Amino acid sequence: MKSEMERDILKVLVTEEELKARITEMGAELYEQFHGKNPLFLGVLKGSFVFMADLVRACQVKSDVEFIAVSSYQNATVSSGRVQITHDLQQDITGRHLIIVEDILDSGNTLAFLKDYFMTKGAASITIVTLLDKPSRRTKAITADLAGFVVPDEFVVGYGLDYCQQYRNVPYIGVLKPEVYSGE
Ligand code: XMP
Ligand code: MG
Repeated sequence: MKSEMERDILKVLVTEEELKARITEMGAELYEQFHGKNPLFLGVLKGSFVFMADLVRACQVKSDVEFIAVSSYQNATVSSGRVQITHDLQQDITGRHLIIVEDILDSGNTLAFLKDYFMTKGAASITIVTLLDKPSRRTKAITADLAGFVVPDEFVVGYGLDYCQQYRNVPYIGVLKPEVYSGE
């Protein structure tokens, strides 16, 4: 039986099995780069929370975890371009090796803003890790150091990503049926 949310999904872009396999690889890559360096995994809320939970367990380095919350979409499917911090860092990041953990790199507005912000806070290095990369929509000159999957120019949900705060608990990455958006 399909769940009530799954009935709204038009198609699956990345399956649970594909997510698991790729995140295991990404964890191993980060291990090679960061063991002995005590990095700080810095998740961008809310979308990264599911990916963050799996990524930190796939990368068994001595490290700690921090979150920042930003908002730029105001429930639309296209970025407004303005990024606001809605929950700031709760610790000093001076001299830390940051691993920024994002759900999706789309226009690049969010990560361009955050990269500058973390530089001014004195980070020793910044590595951008994103689960999904949508390069076709980039307006800022920003690239991920490590990306899980390249996705086409479609609005995606699941595995932390939302539409109007819903569908974050769908266990895979999918595209919604057009009728779900009607009324936007
Ligand atoms: P930008 O455009 O700043 O976008 O690179 C980054 C943030 O926007 C959200 N985003 C999406 N969320 N499906 C979503 O659920 C999408 O297709 C999508 N594209 C961008 C996301 O929160 C990301 O952190
Ligand atoms: Mg979002």
